[in-house]
Amino acid sequence: MSDLRKVAGIDQLQKGVLKVEIDGEEILLIKDGEKIYALSNICSHQEKELSSGFLENGVWVCPHHGARFDIKTGEALSMPAVEGIKSYKVEIKGNDIFIEMEDE
Ligand code: FES
Repeated sequence: MSDLRKVAGIDQLQKGVLKVEIDGEEILLIKDGEKIYALSNICSHQEKELSSGFLENGVWVCPHHGARFDIKTGEALSMPAVEGIKSYKVEIKGNDIFIEMEDE
């Protein structure tokens, strides 16, 4: 089962990235062109925050040791991360951003 949850308004994403917290999960919203993606904000390498990293050609770069993650899937693309991070399905309705959370 999954649950669609409103996390932000589109206007809150003007800087291109926004950190939100929902059900204790830290989630990073990333705007790439007209698309919005949602990833865990916690790097799989040393569990540090990803939010001060940067976007480069569809890839989010961890600010701590440079691991790279595919923003569409959360897949780890380079060392030192060997495991991916969680990605969330995003839906836009009007001016609101929703993400799909899995029920426990
Ligand atoms: S904490 Fe992200 S690469 Fe080390």
